[in-house]
Amino acid sequence: MTELTTADTGTGYGRKKPSYDARLTEVGPGTPMGEAMRRYWHPVATSETLTSDQPHRTRVLGEDLIVFRDGQGRAGVVFERCTHRGSSLFYGRIEDDGIRCCYHGWKFDVQGHCLEQACEPGGGRRRDVARQPWYPVEERYGLVFVYMGPPELKPALPRWDALDPAEEGEQYYAGWPVPGAEVTGMEQDFNWLQIWENAIDNVHVTWLHYAHSGAQLTGTGTAEGLPESFYDPSRVAEATSYHKTEFGAKYHQRYETTTPDGQRAELEWRIEQQLPNIVALPDFTQVTPDARHNLLIWIVPSDDTHHRVFFSIRSGDPGRMQRLVSGIKQNGKSFWEMTEDELRRYPSDNEAQGSQGPITLHSEETLATSDRGVVMVRRMLRAMVDDVEAGKNPVGVSRVDGPPRRVESGVFTLSTDSGALSQGGAAAKSAATVSGE
Ligand code: FES
Ligand SMILES: [Fe+2]
Repeated sequence: MTELTTADTGTGYGRKKPSYDARLTEVGPGTPMGEAMRRYWHPVATSETLTSDQPHRTRVLGEDLIVFRDGQGRAGVVFERCTHRGSSLFYGRIEDDGIRCCYHGWKFDVQGHCLEQACEPGGGRRRDVARQPWYPVEERYGLVFVYMGPPELKPALPRWDALDPAEEGEQYYAGWPVPGAEVTGMEQDFNWLQIWENAIDNVHVTWLHYAHSGAQLTGTGTAEGLPESFYDPSRVAEATSYHKTEFGAKYHQRYETTTPDGQRAELEWRIEQQLPNIVALPDFTQVTPDARHNLLIWIVPSDDTHHRVFFSIRSGDPGRMQRLVSGIKQNGKSFWEMTEDELRRYPSDNEAQGSQGPITLHSEETLATSDRGVVMVRRMLRAMVDDVEAGKNPVGVSRVDGPPRRVESGVFTLSTDSGALSQGGAAAKSAATVSGE
């Protein structure tokens, strides 16, 4: 027998207790990110499906809320817990001018004013002191937005050129057409940042959605979709650059293709994300170079370990929404049709990001070259949090209802056989040379 003389290295023994970056991930009242998030408007429901039928329960930034529409059509967001003695307004009844608690019949309007106290003499002579906590609401782009921050700092709800203005014949699609979709969005059980930072993690597209699980983005390799060469993991690093934008960050990924008229074209796929939680995702199933972008996605934290995904699409084509919802297939199926075994064989975003844990453990990460975009957006989020703590306006927050903000997402033609650059491609190419990080 030979005695071992060298110790094994890199084993799991004795590692420090793992931890996550609370400053980036925790969103409850009073937390650094929670306070920063409360300086922005967030979608909490889809307008079309928010009817006056029943109240809806949700959780946003760690707060339990009720979203409802009164009989006069006004959307409201109030605390779930009744200010009288705490029953849930989820069991309440919607009336013409507000919502009425089931327990003792107190009725509140969309701004929390107590309109009536059914069991009090005279309907409640001191009902004006019983204010149900509420939040301001605005509806736009087919979504109900809420502002949960300091009232004196309430910003204008921004406009984006991807959605605004709608062209003739267009409408906003904002509801998930999938089984079990709720008025208050689709909830997933992991931290919001894992999905938001995934938007700038473009290399995962080449591995997870192609090399590992087979071509998952429908349209791949056809005249409509992205060519298979786009998904080459060995080339993605050199084809990609990451850039800061006025309101966030974006990446450019170059690729070549043959146009329907037989020309070779150099194109660039770009995705921009804006702070704190917006992603502009182009149509990857039907690629239309140099088209006006038409989709925004919001990743809204429910609490530290759950989030909901909202979107709005400006389109005259109902198929556009279908392509978003069904655009990723796992072994030819949608995620809700998959068995556990199939999910393991053909994993996609939910499996990859959900399995990072309820909140991924940042202390256990080993960041590499391909994480440059992730590092960039985390740094920007930290700056946003710092700004709020320093009493400054964080990026993108303005009290002015300004013109629609530029969103640079889509496929841009850089050059063709004839050497001509499209306008968008030329402008962006010169911008790319100065803004790279
Ligand atoms: S607890 Fe709501 S009315 Fe009494
Ligand atoms: Fe993905």
